[in-house]
Order: sequence, then structure tokens, then C-alpha cells
Amino acid sequence: MRKNTTMWFIVLALCSLILAACPAPPPPGSAAPAASSGGESQAAAAPAAPAELSGDLNLLCTPQVQWCEGMKAEFERANPGVTVNFVRMSSGESLTRLRNEKDNPQFDIWWGGPIDSFIAAKQEGLLEPYASKNAALIKDKDLMLDPDNAWAGIYVGSLGFVTNKNWLTEHPGTAAPTSWDDLLKPEFTGQVLVAHPSSSGTSYTAMCTILQMRGEEAGWEFLKAYAGQMLQFTKSGSAPAKFVGQGEAAVGIVFSHDIVAEMEKGSPVELTFPAEGTGYEIGGMGIVKGAKNLAIAQAWFDWALDPATQELGPKYEAFQAPSVEGAAASRPELLEVNLIDYDFDYCGTNKKAFIDRFTNEIANADALKE
Ligand code: F6P
Repeated sequence: MRKNTTMWFIVLALCSLILAACPAPPPPGSAAPAASSGGESQAAAAPAAPAELSGDLNLLCTPQVQWCEGMKAEFERANPGVTVNFVRMSSGESLTRLRNEKDNPQFDIWWGGPIDSFIAAKQEGLLEPYASKNAALIKDKDLMLDPDNAWAGIYVGSLGFVTNKNWLTEHPGTAAPTSWDDLLKPEFTGQVLVAHPSSSGTSYTAMCTILQMRGEEAGWEFLKAYAGQMLQFTKSGSAPAKFVGQGEAAVGIVFSHDIVAEMEKGSPVELTFPAEGTGYEIGGMGIVKGAKNLAIAQAWFDWALDPATQELGPKYEAFQAPSVEGAAASRPELLEVNLIDYDFDYCGTNKKAFIDRFTNEIANADALKE
């Protein structure tokens, strides 16, 4: 360091005599630049300092609000120049919002919610492809990474049934459902809660699971009977777990990690799975086409695929399984159940048509429970 400083004094003294274009001295503590053949290439060779991010990130966040809040705080801690503004919205509402804002997008990135909606969003030209360096960490790229980099998978979760244990005690002879057909039992009439598929990705996953397992004809018949068992449809997918815990209904259809979150709070609920097979989600993430804060959205995208970020879930009551190598699942048993070979392309491509049919022919979305 002392040697470099002395050398720069000599260079500056010579410069003051020659008055030629002189290089600026290096900042304190840095090494002298390597010798080069000319001033122009010397400037080009100077190492670029990593730009510190600053500005806002407008995040459309579909998972539970505690996780959205936690991710905001963690990203802001890692990037002190950034403010994350998020709105929590269910999958169907998010997709509608992105459609409506297509010509003047208000969000930069959409994080969370089953990829069926991201597949639909890509087909409608609502997403901006991004080839993240961290996409290499994704475990099953055929399933969890869009071939054109329009979206990437960030977590995995299976569908389950949540049942209120007190209700079971008060109704001797009843048991928590262990098959889809159990939901149609007379004791559960008016005692089942699920979200509406138009607003919720959870509910759409359940609906598309049925249509795949039974075939469309028998599937629509089942959905008609299943809708007849409902107390009410909710807006958000995880809400039935909370309401069943509070004793408002006996049974709900919810992602199993949301049922675990309810159990962790001490709610009197039990988790079961349909033995013949259940559907599952890959939670997705995609940059919004026309994002106004693209560089920060790309930084979030990279960060969300980092194993350390994915292991933050349980800190914020999120028990979904990570999508990347190097991140451990907090509840691996939730995926060790009979999962169907869920066809995300089929469900994503038909999302609008299936939901329109459900809404027009089976149950509208006029009075959703919040
Ligand atoms: O609450 C978390 C979660 O279940 C996610 O795993 C899922 O992707 C999302 O909610 C779906 O929310 P909704 O059903 O409200 O669209």
C-alpha cells in the first residue's frame, strides 16, 4: 500500500509536468491498476463494482400473508436500498389483476401460487422470461422450470383434508375423510368448506385433480355433488383450515402444509389424505411483462431460488417443500403420500374454460367467505 502511494506521487508529479491525460489515483486501500497498453483499454479493464440495488419492488404475493411479510423483511434486510411493497392476493384474483393491468403493469414480480396459473399467464403473454443463474439448482427441471424461462417453481405441496376433532367427538360414528367419496357422505352435507376455483389456486388444484382422476365426464358429475356438500365457498385457499379449526364447519379441502400451520397454532384439527390419490401444487414465480423495476425483480427471482431463502419458510409458518437442491424440507412426510401424476399443462391450458364451466353451471362466486 505504502509502495503504491509513493509510486502514485511520482506519477502525479510527472503528470503535472507533462499535462497529458493522467489516470486517476486508485481509491485508498485498492491495488494499483494492472499495466496496460493504452488509456482506453485500461478504463475498460477496471473491475465493475457490483451495483447496489435501490428503489421499490412491487410484489404480487399469493402465499399466506405471514410468509409474504417475512419475505419482504428478509429481502429488505439483504438489500437495504430496496423497499418491497406487496399485495397478498389469491391465484385467480392475481391472474385477473395481471390481465387487467396488461397495458400498464403495476406489479414487478408474482411470487407464489400453483403454476397452473403461471402456465395460463405465460400463454396470455403476461410474463417476462428470465434465465436466472440459480435455476440450475431446481431439482426437477422438467416439472418445475418453464422451458422458456417464463416461470420457475419455488415450492411443492400436496392437497389434504382438514377435520375438526371436536366435531368428530360430538358426532359418534363419524370419521375424518380418507377418500374423495367420503366428502359426499350424508353427515358432511353442509359441513364442507373449500375455496372457489375462480379465486383460489388451491381449489382449482382440487378441481383439476378430480377431473384427471375420474375423467372429465364423471369428474364433472362428482364436482356437482361435491359442490352440494359445501357450507360455503371461501375466497382464499387456506381459509377453510382456519374456519374448520374454529368449528365453523367439520371438513375442509386445503393444501396439507396449511393444515400443518393450523395444527402448529394448537387448533383442534386433524390431517388426512385421500388414499386413492391426491393432487399437488408446484408453487411458481414469474416476472411481470413490462415490470418497471426489472433489475430488482430479477434480484428477487435469483434470491427466491437460493437454498437459504427457501429454508426460511418455517420461520414464517410456511411448511411447503423447497424446490431447489441444498434446501431441506421441514415436513417431508407431506409429499410421502399417494400423489397423482398431476398434468400441469392440461390444468393450466384449460384453467379458464374449466372455471367458467364451474361458475356458470355449478356454483357462482357471488358470496365468497373471507
Ligand atoms: O397459503 C399458502 C398456499 O396454500 C400456497 O401453498 C398456495 O400456493 C397458495 O396458498 C394458494 O392460495 P390460493 O388458493 O388462495 O390461491
